[in-house]
Amino acid sequence: MKHPNPPRIFVTRQLPGEALARLAVHTSPRVWPEPLPPPPDVLQAEAREAEGLITLLTDRVDEALLASAPHLRVVSNVAVGHDNIDVGACTARRIAVGNTPGVLTETTADFAFALLMGLARRVAEADAYVRAGQWRTWDPGLLLGPDVHGATLGIVGLGAIGAAVARRARGFGMRLLYVNRRARPELEAELGLTRVDKATLLAQSDVVSLHVPLTPDTRHWLGRAELASMKPGALLVNTARGPVVDQSALVDAIQSGHLGGAALDVTDPEPLPLDSPLLKLPRVLLAPHIASASHATRGRMASMAVDNLLAALEGRRPPNCVNP
Ligand code: DGY
Repeated sequence: MKHPNPPRIFVTRQLPGEALARLAVHTSPRVWPEPLPPPPDVLQAEAREAEGLITLLTDRVDEALLASAPHLRVVSNVAVGHDNIDVGACTARRIAVGNTPGVLTETTADFAFALLMGLARRVAEADAYVRAGQWRTWDPGLLLGPDVHGATLGIVGLGAIGAAVARRARGFGMRLLYVNRRARPELEAELGLTRVDKATLLAQSDVVSLHVPLTPDTRHWLGRAELASMKPGALLVNTARGPVVDQSALVDAIQSGHLGGAALDVTDPEPLPLDSPLLKLPRVLLAPHIASASHATRGRMASMAVDNLLAALEGRRPPNCVNP
């Protein structure tokens, strides 16, 4: 039975699956009904009365919001990444912060690999070519691209998602390099990965795939100098966070012909403005931050966010908690 004064929760968007129905059994949720995120002043006003927030990566939870949210006990993000939340400020106020690791690993790796394949083998360009009525005959020089099998893949960040991408790449006969803060000897043995330094990875990889969280250390990890040091013709796949790459330097590297192209599920900013030069480059494959977007995974992420929130409201540490 519901508590006579159920805790007030604000949820910043409708969520897929059964999660919100379960939330409503235990709490008094207000769910933002619009497809676009609540504006910051609305979020701040809602947070003023709330004991819990369920947020998405589009919602900024910063010191200003926390300062006007005296009852807040938990912020539960429906994402594994939590760069939208000032975790330090939450911790200082004893506010738990939850995230959703694990459930999206394989789905995200599937999509990273789809982007890799689609970019290398020019799938979107081929589709556009056929639809535009340009296909007149079989042409031995039409829409050529690099082979994926036998190519060298450089994995940046060998966490769960990086390792899941490595497993897929191994099945495609790729040579695997990685950079990671710590060595992963068990994965090296399982998947034939070689740990190298950043310069070696950039110089030798035919495809670089990013799998690091966005932190002050990883912002512009791939800057102008790093892009210039990549192998000529190399491809970039980003399913991590847009600001890990210096985007204007990336545009220059592709425009100059130094890089062969990029497949970006994430950009800086999101959404990408319609005048972004990326939209004009044919060797750029773009997606609207959907790497985890399978029916099952998005339902599980929502459910996990509710579990994290309810645990914190009961005074327990959320099962997936990012506070130290
Ligand atoms: C995350 O979870 O951080 C992704 O970017 C969205 O699924």
